[in-house]
Amino acid sequence: MGGSGEAGGEAWRGRYYRLEEVQRHNTSQSTWIILHHRIYDVTKFLDEHPGGEEVLREQAGGDATENFEDVGHSTDARTLSESFIVGELHPVSMQVYQYVMSTIVSFSWSNWVIPAIAAIIVALMYRSYMSE
Ligand code: HEM
Repeated sequence: MGGSGEAGGEAWRGRYYRLEEVQRHNTSQSTWIILHHRIYDVTKFLDEHPGGEEVLREQAGGDATENFEDVGHSTDARTLSESFIVGELHPVSMQVYQYVMSTIVSFSWSNWVIPAIAAIIVALMYRSYMSE
C-alpha cells in the first residue's frame, strides 16, 4: 500500500474486458497478459523486461499468473507492474473461466473413471468368455 501517488494510477478500475478480448492481444503490436484477474498491457515493456521479451510473448493473450508467481518477482517488479494495468477481467469472463477450470478438474475424473471402469468390465467379460 501507500503507492507512488502517480496521477491516474488507478484509472483502470471499473474497466472490464472479456476473456476473448484479452486473447486477441497476443501479438507484438499489442501484448496483454492476465495477472490475478487484472489485465496488463506489456507491449511497451517487452524490450525492457529483465526476464526477457520471450517469456511475456509466450503468455500473450492469456493468464500468466502462475509463471509470474513462480519467478518470485520482487516488490519493485510488482510496483512496476501496476503501471501496465489497463483493466480487469469481466466478472462473467472470470466466472466462466473459473467454471471451465473447475469443470476441467472435476471432469477429468469422470473422463478417466468411466472409461477405466468400462475397460475393466470389458476385460473381465473377455477373460471369462475366453476361459469357457
Ligand atoms: C507486468 C508484468 C511483469 C513485470 C513488471 C515484470 C518485471 C520484472 C522485473 C523488474 C524483473 C527483475 C527481477 C525482479 O525485480 O524481480 C523480472 C524478472 C523476470 N521476469 Fe518478469 N515481469 C513481469 C511479468 C513476467 C511474466 C508474466 C513472466 C513469466 C512468464 C516473467 C518472467 C521473468 C523472469 C524469468 C525473470 C528473470 C528472473 C531472474 O533472472 O532471476 N515476468 N521481471
